[in-house]
Amino acid sequence: MIHLPRHPSSGAQAPAPVSWRDTLPTLVGQLVTLREVRLSDADALFTVMQAPDVSRFVSTPPATEDLFRSFIHWVQRERALGRYACFAVVPAGSDTPVGLFQVRQLEHGFVTGEWGFALSPEHWGAGLFMDAARLVVEFAFSTIGMHRLEARSAVANVRGNAALRKLGAVHEGVLRNSFHKDERRLDQSLWSLLADEWVARRDAGTAVH
Ligand SMILES: CC(C)(COP(=O)(O)OP(=O)(O)OC[C@H]1O[C@@H](n2cnc3c(N)ncnc32)[C@H](O)[C@@H]1OP(=O)(O)O)[C@@H](O)C(=O)NCCC(=O)NCCS
Repeated sequence: MIHLPRHPSSGAQAPAPVSWRDTLPTLVGQLVTLREVRLSDADALFTVMQAPDVSRFVSTPPATEDLFRSFIHWVQRERALGRYACFAVVPAGSDTPVGLFQVRQLEHGFVTGEWGFALSPEHWGAGLFMDAARLVVEFAFSTIGMHRLEARSAVANVRGNAALRKLGAVHEGVLRNSFHKDERRLDQSLWSLLADEWVARRDAGTAVH
Protein backbone atom coordinates (compact mmCIF):
# COMPACT_ATOMS: atom_id res chain seq x y z
CA MET A 1 0.00 0.00 0.00
CA ILE A 2 1.44 3.31 -0.97
CA HIS A 3 1.48 5.62 2.01
CA LEU A 4 2.32 9.30 1.89
CA PRO A 5 2.08 10.99 5.28
CA ARG A 6 -0.14 14.04 5.16
CA HIS A 7 1.76 15.86 7.86
CA PRO A 8 5.34 14.65 7.59
CA SER A 9 7.41 14.95 10.76
CA SER A 10 11.04 14.26 11.45
CA GLY A 11 12.26 11.41 13.63
CA ALA A 12 15.63 10.47 15.03
CA GLN A 13 17.22 7.06 14.67
CA ALA A 14 20.83 5.95 14.57
CA PRO A 15 21.96 5.83 10.91
CA ALA A 16 23.57 2.78 9.33
CA PRO A 17 26.47 3.30 6.91
CA VAL A 18 25.00 2.46 3.51
CA SER A 19 25.57 4.61 0.45
CA TRP A 20 22.01 4.80 -0.90
CA ARG A 21 21.30 6.81 2.21
CA ASP A 22 23.46 9.64 0.89
CA THR A 23 21.67 9.83 -2.43
CA LEU A 24 19.50 7.36 -4.28
CA PRO A 25 21.07 5.82 -7.36
CA THR A 26 19.53 6.55 -10.76
CA LEU A 27 18.07 3.33 -12.16
CA VAL A 28 17.73 3.08 -15.92
CA GLY A 29 15.29 0.70 -17.57
CA GLN A 30 14.10 0.27 -21.14
CA LEU A 31 11.13 2.59 -20.80
CA VAL A 32 11.77 4.58 -17.67
CA THR A 33 14.42 6.12 -15.49
CA LEU A 34 13.96 6.08 -11.74
CA ARG A 35 15.60 8.80 -9.70
CA GLU A 36 15.09 10.33 -6.32
CA VAL A 37 12.05 12.54 -6.01
CA ARG A 38 12.98 16.24 -6.20
CA LEU A 39 11.24 19.36 -4.98
CA SER A 40 10.71 20.36 -8.60
CA ASP A 41 8.62 17.18 -9.06
CA ALA A 42 6.04 18.29 -6.52
CA ASP A 43 3.43 19.73 -8.88
CA ALA A 44 3.58 16.82 -11.36
CA LEU A 45 3.45 14.15 -8.66
CA PHE A 46 0.74 15.97 -6.76
CA THR A 47 -1.39 15.81 -9.92
CA VAL A 48 -0.67 12.09 -10.36
CA MET A 49 -1.60 11.27 -6.77
CA GLN A 50 -4.82 13.31 -6.92
CA ALA A 51 -6.12 11.49 -10.01
CA PRO A 52 -9.31 9.71 -8.86
CA ASP A 53 -8.24 6.36 -10.34
CA VAL A 54 -5.02 6.57 -8.33
CA SER A 55 -6.20 8.11 -5.08
CA ARG A 56 -9.03 5.61 -4.55
CA PHE A 57 -6.54 2.85 -3.76
CA VAL A 58 -3.78 4.74 -1.94
CA SER A 59 -3.69 6.32 1.49
CA THR A 60 -4.80 9.93 1.34
CA PRO A 61 -1.88 11.88 -0.14
CA PRO A 62 -0.79 15.40 0.89
CA ALA A 63 -3.71 17.70 0.18
CA THR A 64 -1.84 20.63 -1.38
CA GLU A 65 1.28 21.23 -3.47
CA ASP A 66 2.89 22.84 -0.41
CA LEU A 67 2.23 19.76 1.69
CA PHE A 68 3.58 17.65 -1.15
CA ARG A 69 6.79 19.69 -0.96
CA SER A 70 6.92 18.96 2.78
CA PHE A 71 6.47 15.30 1.93
CA ILE A 72 9.50 15.48 -0.40
CA HIS A 73 11.60 17.06 2.38
CA TRP A 74 10.44 14.24 4.64
CA VAL A 75 11.42 11.68 1.96
CA GLN A 76 14.94 13.07 1.89
CA ARG A 77 15.27 12.97 5.68
CA GLU A 78 13.95 9.42 5.87
CA ARG A 79 16.32 8.28 3.11
CA ALA A 80 19.25 9.81 5.00
CA LEU A 81 18.13 7.86 8.06
CA GLY A 82 18.16 4.68 6.01
CA ARG A 83 14.54 3.69 6.33
CA TYR A 84 12.79 4.90 3.22
CA ALA A 85 13.39 5.36 -0.50
CA CYS A 86 11.13 7.13 -2.96
CA PHE A 87 11.79 7.09 -6.70
CA ALA A 88 10.17 9.27 -9.32
CA VAL A 89 9.25 7.38 -12.50
CA VAL A 90 10.40 9.37 -15.53
CA PRO A 91 9.56 8.02 -19.00
CA ALA A 92 12.42 7.83 -21.49
CA GLY A 93 12.79 11.11 -23.39
CA SER A 94 11.05 13.17 -20.70
CA ASP A 95 12.03 14.90 -17.50
CA THR A 96 8.57 14.99 -15.99
CA PRO A 97 7.71 12.22 -13.53
CA VAL A 98 4.53 10.25 -14.14
CA GLY A 99 4.53 8.21 -10.97
CA LEU A 100 6.44 7.06 -7.96
CA PHE A 101 7.65 3.91 -6.24
CA GLN A 102 8.39 3.87 -2.53
CA VAL A 103 10.03 1.32 -0.26
CA ARG A 104 9.88 1.67 3.51
CA GLN A 105 11.39 -0.45 6.22
CA LEU A 106 9.08 -2.50 8.40
CA GLU A 107 11.73 -3.27 10.99
CA HIS A 108 14.97 -1.67 12.05
CA GLY A 109 17.77 -2.67 9.69
CA PHE A 110 15.49 -2.90 6.64
CA VAL A 111 15.56 -6.70 6.36
CA THR A 112 11.84 -6.56 5.69
CA GLY A 113 10.14 -3.71 3.91
CA GLU A 114 6.99 -2.72 2.13
CA TRP A 115 6.67 -1.10 -1.25
CA GLY A 116 3.98 0.85 -2.97
CA PHE A 117 3.62 2.45 -6.38
CA ALA A 118 1.42 4.62 -8.48
CA LEU A 119 1.46 5.72 -12.10
CA SER A 120 -0.58 8.32 -13.88
CA PRO A 121 -3.55 6.50 -15.50
CA GLU A 122 -2.61 7.62 -19.01
CA HIS A 123 0.53 5.50 -18.64
CA TRP A 124 -1.19 2.34 -17.44
CA GLY A 125 -0.85 -0.77 -19.55
CA ALA A 126 2.19 0.57 -21.40
CA GLY A 127 4.86 -1.55 -19.72
CA LEU A 128 6.17 1.19 -17.43
CA PHE A 129 5.09 -0.65 -14.31
CA MET A 130 7.02 -3.83 -15.06
CA ASP A 131 10.09 -1.94 -16.21
CA ALA A 132 10.15 0.21 -13.08
CA ALA A 133 9.11 -2.59 -10.71
CA ARG A 134 12.00 -4.83 -11.71
CA LEU A 135 14.44 -1.97 -11.06
CA VAL A 136 12.96 -1.26 -7.63
CA VAL A 137 12.94 -4.92 -6.60
CA GLU A 138 16.59 -5.25 -7.62
CA PHE A 139 17.37 -2.09 -5.67
CA ALA A 140 15.56 -3.42 -2.61
CA PHE A 141 17.29 -6.79 -2.61
CA SER A 142 20.73 -5.93 -4.01
CA THR A 143 21.34 -2.37 -2.81
CA ILE A 144 19.39 -2.12 0.43
CA GLY A 145 19.98 -5.79 1.16
CA MET A 146 16.41 -6.62 2.06
CA HIS A 147 15.22 -10.21 2.36
CA ARG A 148 11.47 -9.78 2.16
CA LEU A 149 9.49 -7.19 0.24
CA GLU A 150 5.80 -6.94 1.11
CA ALA A 151 2.98 -5.22 -0.71
CA ARG A 152 -0.53 -4.51 0.44
CA SER A 153 -3.17 -3.82 -2.16
CA ALA A 154 -6.89 -3.39 -1.62
CA VAL A 155 -8.70 -6.57 -2.66
CA ALA A 156 -10.89 -4.40 -4.88
CA ASN A 157 -7.81 -3.08 -6.68
CA VAL A 158 -7.92 -5.54 -9.56
CA ARG A 159 -5.21 -3.80 -11.53
CA GLY A 160 -2.79 -3.45 -8.61
CA ASN A 161 -3.21 -7.09 -7.62
CA ALA A 162 -2.82 -8.30 -11.21
CA ALA A 163 0.36 -6.26 -11.55
CA LEU A 164 1.84 -7.83 -8.41
CA ARG A 165 0.86 -11.35 -9.50
CA LYS A 166 2.41 -10.74 -12.93
CA LEU A 167 5.64 -9.71 -11.23
CA GLY A 168 5.80 -13.06 -9.42
CA ALA A 169 4.73 -11.88 -5.97
CA VAL A 170 3.13 -14.56 -3.79
CA HIS A 171 -0.33 -13.93 -2.40
CA GLU A 172 -0.17 -14.72 1.30
CA GLY A 173 -3.65 -13.86 2.44
CA VAL A 174 -6.17 -11.15 3.13
CA LEU A 175 -5.79 -8.52 5.84
CA ARG A 176 -9.37 -7.87 6.87
CA ASN A 177 -10.47 -4.23 7.26
CA SER A 178 -6.84 -3.16 7.21
CA PHE A 179 -7.22 -0.10 4.97
CA HIS A 180 -9.31 2.86 6.04
CA LYS A 181 -10.30 5.06 3.14
CA ASP A 182 -13.04 7.67 2.92
CA GLU A 183 -14.89 6.34 5.98
CA ARG A 184 -14.72 2.79 4.63
CA ARG A 185 -12.74 -0.18 5.87
CA LEU A 186 -11.34 -2.24 3.01
CA ASP A 187 -9.70 -5.65 2.97
CA GLN A 188 -6.20 -5.82 1.55
CA SER A 189 -4.27 -8.59 -0.14
CA LEU A 190 -0.83 -9.24 1.30
CA TRP A 191 1.85 -10.07 -1.27
CA SER A 192 5.50 -10.91 -0.82
CA LEU A 193 8.69 -11.32 -2.79
CA LEU A 194 11.72 -12.99 -1.20
CA ALA A 195 15.25 -12.09 -2.23
CA ASP A 196 16.49 -15.65 -2.73
CA GLU A 197 13.49 -16.60 -4.85
CA TRP A 198 13.84 -13.45 -6.93
CA VAL A 199 17.56 -14.01 -7.51
CA ALA A 200 17.01 -17.70 -8.38
CA ARG A 201 14.37 -16.78 -10.95
CA ARG A 202 16.52 -13.99 -12.34
CA ASP A 203 19.59 -16.22 -12.65
CA ALA A 204 17.53 -19.01 -14.21
CA GLY A 205 16.22 -16.51 -16.74
CA THR A 206 12.65 -17.00 -15.57
CA ALA A 207 12.19 -13.60 -13.96
CA VAL A 208 9.25 -11.72 -15.41
CA HIS A 209 10.20 -9.10 -17.99
C1 LIG B 1 -0.74 -0.41 -9.89
C2 LIG B 1 -0.23 0.28 -11.14
C3 LIG B 1 1.07 1.03 -10.83
C4 LIG B 1 0.05 -0.80 -12.18
O1 LIG B 1 0.46 -0.18 -13.38
P1 LIG B 1 -0.26 -0.65 -14.75
O2 LIG B 1 0.43 0.00 -15.89
O3 LIG B 1 -1.70 -0.44 -14.60
O4 LIG B 1 0.08 -2.23 -14.70
P2 LIG B 1 0.10 -3.26 -15.90
O5 LIG B 1 -0.77 -2.79 -17.01
O6 LIG B 1 1.49 -3.62 -16.21
O7 LIG B 1 -0.56 -4.53 -15.18
C5 LIG B 1 -1.90 -4.51 -14.79
C6 LIG B 1 -2.51 -5.82 -15.13
O8 LIG B 1 -3.86 -5.80 -14.68
C7 LIG B 1 -4.64 -6.42 -15.67
N1 LIG B 1 -6.00 -5.99 -15.54
C8 LIG B 1 -6.49 -4.75 -15.71
N2 LIG B 1 -7.81 -4.75 -15.50
C9 LIG B 1 -8.16 -6.00 -15.17
C10 LIG B 1 -9.40 -6.64 -14.83
N3 LIG B 1 -10.53 -5.96 -14.78
N4 LIG B 1 -9.36 -7.96 -14.54
C11 LIG B 1 -8.21 -8.65 -14.56
N5 LIG B 1 -7.02 -8.11 -14.89
C12 LIG B 1 -7.01 -6.80 -15.17
C13 LIG B 1 -4.01 -5.96 -16.96
O9 LIG B 1 -4.42 -6.79 -18.04
C14 LIG B 1 -2.53 -6.10 -16.63
O10 LIG B 1 -2.06 -7.43 -16.81
P3 LIG B 1 -1.37 -7.89 -18.22
O11 LIG B 1 -0.24 -6.95 -18.49
O12 LIG B 1 -0.93 -9.29 -17.94
O13 LIG B 1 -2.42 -7.80 -19.26
C15 LIG B 1 -1.29 1.29 -11.68
O14 LIG B 1 -2.44 0.58 -12.12
C16 LIG B 1 -1.67 2.34 -10.66
O15 LIG B 1 -1.00 3.33 -10.52
N6 LIG B 1 -2.81 2.14 -9.95
C17 LIG B 1 -3.26 3.11 -8.92
C18 LIG B 1 -2.41 3.07 -7.66
C19 LIG B 1 -2.38 1.68 -7.09
O16 LIG B 1 -3.38 0.95 -7.16
N7 LIG B 1 -1.24 1.27 -6.55
C20 LIG B 1 -1.09 -0.08 -6.00
C21 LIG B 1 -1.34 -0.13 -4.56
S1 LIG B 1 0.14 0.27 -3.66
